Amino acid sequence: MNVLKRCIYGISITSLAFLNIQCKGNQKEENKANTTQKMDSVSIEKKEYGTTPAGQKVDVYTLKNQKGMEVNIMTYGGIITSLKVPNKAGVSEEVVIGFNNLEQYTKANPYFGALIGRFGNRIAKGKFTLDGKEYKLATNNDANALHGGPEGFHRVIWTAEEAKGGDNASLKLKYVSKDMEEGYPGNLTVFVTYTLNNDNSLDVLYEATTDKKTIVNLTQHSYFNLSSDFAKPILDHEITIDADKLVPVDAALIPTGKLTDVTNTPFDFRRAKTVGKDIEAKDDQIKKGLGYDHCWVLNNQDKGERFAASAYDPTSGRLLEVFTDQPGIQFYSGNFLDGTLPMRNGGTYAHRTGFCLETQHYPDAPNQKDFPSTVLNPGENYKTKTTFKFSVK
Ligand code: BGC
Repeated sequence: MNVLKRCIYGISITSLAFLNIQCKGNQKEENKANTTQKMDSVSIEKKEYGTTPAGQKVDVYTLKNQKGMEVNIMTYGGIITSLKVPNKAGVSEEVVIGFNNLEQYTKANPYFGALIGRFGNRIAKGKFTLDGKEYKLATNNDANALHGGPEGFHRVIWTAEEAKGGDNASLKLKYVSKDMEEGYPGNLTVFVTYTLNNDNSLDVLYEATTDKKTIVNLTQHSYFNLSSDFAKPILDHEITIDADKLVPVDAALIPTGKLTDVTNTPFDFRRAKTVGKDIEAKDDQIKKGLGYDHCWVLNNQDKGERFAASAYDPTSGRLLEVFTDQPGIQFYSGNFLDGTLPMRNGGTYAHRTGFCLETQHYPDAPNQKDFPSTVLNPGENYKTKTTFKFSVK
């Protein structure tokens, strides 16, 4: 009996050990399957996009995930030429303004989809002073410098490196801006990494270092129309901006230096409100901006990356949420779009058919002593992240 018991016991131990090995083996197989599945969940594809008038070759990269989101980014200007996301019926459609060829992007246009640098937004009179030395920038907005100057980062060729993780696909762009390019001091090495995640978010990570004291304020200038109907103004989009204060401007859109409360003004977007509701209000700031073309002072500036703003289009059900670690966001309602630039498939982009949500430091910060500093010193790392997250409701 004892012998029999021992024997059964022995067999059981052996079978358990065997089962264990089997299970571990299966688990390994399963893990392998998961990894393979994960690795396949995103993809990157590179294609030639064209040649600039100066003879530079331009590539376009398509990043796709498994949730129906797809983004095209080209090496000229780091421009997002196309961004497709699903609507509430699950149909993926275009949500950013763009052209259908490189030639059009190389002609004058209001920064469609582009990376903006070295300094996003306006610098009054195109001048600023660092350590007692005055720098004169290339001006392109009457007497002011706008978005890095006429030959800013939106018009240069970036080099690109692809990376694919389990759940995301990244494109790391690099550009070295030479000392005194567009009037800015210091050789500035810039990296901008676009990452498409499988939760339908697109991260934009900006990094820069310099060899001489300089100023930096990078941003992204996509014009969204979540309805995908680019013939239709964005006035029905419901906007929220998590900001109690605004950076008011003068007639040339240069900050007055004060920060004002948004309460009881057309600029209060703390609760969702359509773009159209107050855009024609009799208000001095609305008049100066010809609508919304202002920087909001975001709340919770000490909290790192946090919710900043959202846009919702009730017809398509698309919701865009913007998260950032930046102190400000420029909400621009496309007031200067004037029906002169061609849409992809015929027609032209008319007044207010796209809006921008540009995360950034406040305009003219280098000349405003009370605004958060945009100075970058040698040895410091400029690093900031913004996420554009899409969903439906
Ligand atoms: C500015 C607008 C400007 C537009 C395109 C926006 O970021 O705030 O004033 O017209 O860019 O140039």
